[in-house]
Amino acid sequence: MSTPSILILPGDGIGPEVMAEVRKVIDWYGAKRNVTFDVSEDLVGGAAYDAHGTPLHDDTMAKAQEVDAVLLGAVGGPKYDVLDFSVKPERGLLRLRKEMDLYSNLRPAQCFDALADFSSLKRDVVAGLDIVIVRELTSGIYFGEPRGIINEGNERVGINTQRYTESEIERVARSAFELARRRGNKVCSMEKANVMESGILWRDVVTEVHQKDYQDVELSHMYADAGAMQLCRWPKQFDVIVTDNLFGDLLSDAAAMLTGSLGMLPSASLGAPMANGRPKALYEPVHGSAPDIAGQGKANPIACILSFAMALRYSFDMGDEATRLEEAVEKVLADGLRTADLLGEDGAQPVSTSEMGDAIVAALEASVA
Ligand code: IPM
Ligand code: MG
Repeated sequence: MSTPSILILPGDGIGPEVMAEVRKVIDWYGAKRNVTFDVSEDLVGGAAYDAHGTPLHDDTMAKAQEVDAVLLGAVGGPKYDVLDFSVKPERGLLRLRKEMDLYSNLRPAQCFDALADFSSLKRDVVAGLDIVIVRELTSGIYFGEPRGIINEGNERVGINTQRYTESEIERVARSAFELARRRGNKVCSMEKANVMESGILWRDVVTEVHQKDYQDVELSHMYADAGAMQLCRWPKQFDVIVTDNLFGDLLSDAAAMLTGSLGMLPSASLGAPMANGRPKALYEPVHGSAPDIAGQGKANPIACILSFAMALRYSFDMGDEATRLEEAVEKVLADGLRTADLLGEDGAQPVSTSEMGDAIVAALEASVA
């Protein structure tokens, strides 16, 4: 098989800084594990707009379709708030998701033991937490038609449409059940079947898929609002949560914060298998571009580095190497290393973005010594 290819899209804000640390990790794998990638880099978001007047150039889109995995930093920033909706940085990311048809978005919320006290919830509620939200990513209200702002009588009306086909629900449900089988074997599906027809269909289709092919997996259903409440009350009751695009957006931010810092969480967005058997895939941290701290060496590179670990696992079938990288991250945290986002009130000195990256590479190095 040819050398696996990765397209790196650092994007805006802290994106380039955290991606520079991922580069160190990729280089280490090449030099020390003989795991080499054909890496190219391009622009997305505001950076692409500045260069080309569009948040994603067609050539970049075409490249993304060809590579084995895309690694994205973050998009957006106040500088771009004035832009027309159609060219806002976020549109670049949404176009990648839509055109690559990345329907299954895996958002793990895992609480590292060394960080359990950073959560706003009590330690025993979050310690050892390990759940995954599977968010449908290419349909629902994010993309449904009709949409827009129209004039009606003497006022404006804003319109978005929640729309799901059976096949869209079925494929994301299948990915959630498959994932659950490799973990705790439980799926909780969340919608609002009490108020939305799309929620009724969602519940029906998830139930049918379960009946047909996944009866060995434990399935439950929850209204999404109750789900949000249960996530705060006792999150360890969950294993895999499957939900739609908008609920998944909200619930995954809430789940992320259970773990103490948004700076820690990776994500994988997966589509159908390509000709070489690998899924279409984009990996990105859950956090945003954090323009307030950009360029200061304060950003936490761990979410982006763990996103690369997910790429090793889901795109490149290197689960052992993914685990090695995750353990290296765990090791530096256990050693007490903290970026500024992870500081308590004990007056400890934070390490910089690049010091954190270097420490993770050193822990990788120690793992093979
Ligand atoms: C996310 C973000 C995006 C979303 C934005 C940046 C378009 O919030 O990935 O969760 O709403 O999906
Ligand atoms: Mg979001």
